[in-house]
Amino acid sequence: MTKLDLAIRGGTIVTASDMFKADIGIAGEKIAVIAETVAGAEREIDASSLYVMPGGIDSHVHIAQPSGPGIVMADDFASATASAAAGGNTLVMPFALQQRGASLRGSVEEYRTLAEGECHIDTAFHLIVSDPTPAVLGQELPALVEAGYTSFKVFMTYDDLVLNDRQLLEVFDVARATQALVMVHCEGYDTIKFLAERLERAGKTEPYYHAVSRPEIVEREAAHRAISHAELIDVPMMIVHVSGRETMEQVRWAQQRGLKVYAETCPQYITLTAESLKGLNMTGAKYVCSPPPRDCDSQKAIWEGIAQGVFQTFSSDHCPFRYDSTDGKLNPKARTSFRWVPNGIPGVETRLPILFSEGVSKGRITPQKFVELSATNHAKMYGLYPRKGSIGIGFDADLALWNPNRKETIRQEILHHGADYTPWEGFEVTGWPVMTVSRGTIVVEDGKIVAGKDHGRVLEREKSAYAA
Ligand code: URP
Ligand code: ZN
Ligand code: ZN
Repeated sequence: MTKLDLAIRGGTIVTASDMFKADIGIAGEKIAVIAETVAGAEREIDASSLYVMPGGIDSHVHIAQPSGPGIVMADDFASATASAAAGGNTLVMPFALQQRGASLRGSVEEYRTLAEGECHIDTAFHLIVSDPTPAVLGQELPALVEAGYTSFKVFMTYDDLVLNDRQLLEVFDVARATQALVMVHCEGYDTIKFLAERLERAGKTEPYYHAVSRPEIVEREAAHRAISHAELIDVPMMIVHVSGRETMEQVRWAQQRGLKVYAETCPQYITLTAESLKGLNMTGAKYVCSPPPRDCDSQKAIWEGIAQGVFQTFSSDHCPFRYDSTDGKLNPKARTSFRWVPNGIPGVETRLPILFSEGVSKGRITPQKFVELSATNHAKMYGLYPRKGSIGIGFDADLALWNPNRKETIRQEILHHGADYTPWEGFEVTGWPVMTVSRGTIVVEDGKIVAGKDHGRVLEREKSAYAA
């Protein structure tokens, strides 16, 4: 009989399809046995009042990414992965960003060097293609896909990242040829620039006008354009961080048309609104992200999209900057206009408690749907299944133990990220992850990080089950 290192006893195991009480036996890094009762193990955990779920996979986080002159992201790999683990995650997927003029391969190597030996949990990189030169499209990108970087993000906005329609089509064509999954940030560059400059001319420069400069029509138009490009090229596509009704309806329309168009949404779009950006003085800057949070009807639309299966993944889009810092939200230029407030909010640690509480505890989704949205579909979407993303014999023993009844108030002081604030300060949740196990090793216990930053591995991936 296999010698067990860890036994998790009597918990309610939840997968994307099932929910049942059983013991789990772990040998080394893998789940070895699931049974009514498993044999004794070196360490035993009583999970009788807990849900035992696959560890969360957050397939959209930004870590240590350059964000403009004088701006510094608040998390390195150690703090981001500690924060993720404390929030019930066992894998994060940041981006290796190609800066214009740089080689894509070189960018990947730089990020890997930053991450190796610095991660408390496993990490796997997507690519960001900002400079699709003939060498990138013809050689670097196909070679990187074959080497296990099987997804890449492109942008329809941001001065340093935007691709024009011709470039988008060329990148989509490479995705089709290599069976990589292309992720698209849908917001129209020219329209935003037009609106932002008009607002500035009218003296409307406070953080709130960030939301006004990026109305949902800008996101909806770009989503429709990206969908049309994907249909033309006949390539599957993931639209990331969908913020509200109009874009959700574009995705649903594409899906009903039979296109392989997938979608992600995030906690900010079910809990925050543009009103959050109206804080006194500069405090609205804490909520500046793109696309911006919308309104209550948009939140309702996101839940409709979740119920109807429009969304496959729920990610954080963790993109942390310090608020009270000249290298973050309150950099000197940001005081002159919303255009200089770095875009992004921290959220890797709060994503799962928010989805659990707003979804499962409030009866909007089942625990199984929670697992699908927070782990299983991420693993399938990004080529990590069946190694990651579920609970079964032979899977990596990546688990999160949840107390479904524990009430917590989200506060900056209990979080582990490098930011100096959370957009959800004072937000009350029911349901909290009390232990995180990564490849058989307990990483978080009672809110404390108990595994070193050499535990996590940087993983290569297979091709997406959704990109075929
Ligand atoms: O405001 C955001 N979301 N910043 C992160 C970069 C991105 O577009 O995902
Ligand atoms: Zn984006
Ligand atoms: Zn992002």
